[in-house]
Amino acid sequence: MSLAADRPRPQRNVYAKTPKYVEIETTIMCNAKCWFCPQKNTLRQPKYMEDWLWKKIIDDTRDIGAIYRPFLLNEPFADKRMPEIVRYMKKDPTAQVEFNTNGSMLTQKVADQILDSGVNVMRFSIDGFRKETFDESRGISYDKVYKHVRYFLEQVKSSGAPIHTEVRMIKLPGTEEEQKEFKAYWEQYSPDNIVFTSLYSYPWEGQTESTNLPCVKVKDEMFFYVDGTCTLCCWDSIGRQIVGDAKTENVLDIWNGQEMARCRELLDAGRRDQLELCKRCDAYAHYDFSNWEGFDAKAAAAHKEKTIPVNIVEIT
Ligand SMILES: C[S@@+](CC[C@H](N)C(=O)[O-])C[C@H]1O[C@@H](n2cnc3c(N)ncnc32)[C@H](O)[C@@H]1O
Ligand code: SF4
Repeated sequence: MSLAADRPRPQRNVYAKTPKYVEIETTIMCNAKCWFCPQKNTLRQPKYMEDWLWKKIIDDTRDIGAIYRPFLLNEPFADKRMPEIVRYMKKDPTAQVEFNTNGSMLTQKVADQILDSGVNVMRFSIDGFRKETFDESRGISYDKVYKHVRYFLEQVKSSGAPIHTEVRMIKLPGTEEEQKEFKAYWEQYSPDNIVFTSLYSYPWEGQTESTNLPCVKVKDEMFFYVDGTCTLCCWDSIGRQIVGDAKTENVLDIWNGQEMARCRELLDAGRRDQLELCKRCDAYAHYDFSNWEGFDAKAAAAHKEKTIPVNIVEIT
């Protein structure tokens, strides 16, 4: 084996001419108020994306093999148009559609339409097996969610529909035993995956300095707010880094545009401190960027920006 083959491969984001994932906030609404999710702080308008606009975003990305996710922080089935939106996406034979949902608005009637729509992936965020962990005080009913998810999984199983299904629970501290109960329960309904996810912090939620690392999040995803503006990242809950506007620009022009290129260049060099959104983001802090092409960890660290403590002077 040659020496070159022994060397660790340099890593970097390879930016294709088209995005792989296109995520669209067709409504700002969510029927739950989860303590770990900043959706409740989003004040964007309008409540629902105009029909012409979600159609334009889909039309702009036809035939590129896009994977559509018709939601950001919101609940996709809070939008009654969702079966119609999925059918519109699936007119493109190269397109796939994926959902994350809390399941509480996925009634039998909506589920039947979604099962028929050609959807590819359904991820159910159940986030608890015991009622105290599930926490009905966030506004959704445990019994309803469990009933809706069971119904969907049973229909997929009995029909043999090629839909990838997943049930998820966040690994909250102290829920280790409960995670086993969750797994044993849902195994009875044969989802493709039972996943336990880590709890993370959104940017600007307690971080006091810039981690100045590169970012893999920006590699192949685009995110559209309900008003058509496009943000760099789905963890941008309040529009700190807008990169374009689908109302006035073609989606692929945004993807290949100057603002996107500027953000990529800064992030590839580990200069999160230069972007208002990213300078308080600790995502990928445990990722090994040591072989990342174009990233000088020492130089990036030298720019680590800290929040400056403010001296409060009391005026008497
Ligand atoms: C923000 S929700 C939006 C879609 C939908 N309303 C749902 O509940 O699946 C998308 C996913 O992010 C997860 N999530 C939200 N905040 C999180 C956090 N702080 N840590 C880990 N996962 C989180 C949710 O559990 C859910 O699976
Ligand atoms: S650094 Fe953080 S906020 Fe910025 S794009 Fe990456 S994941 Fe999103």
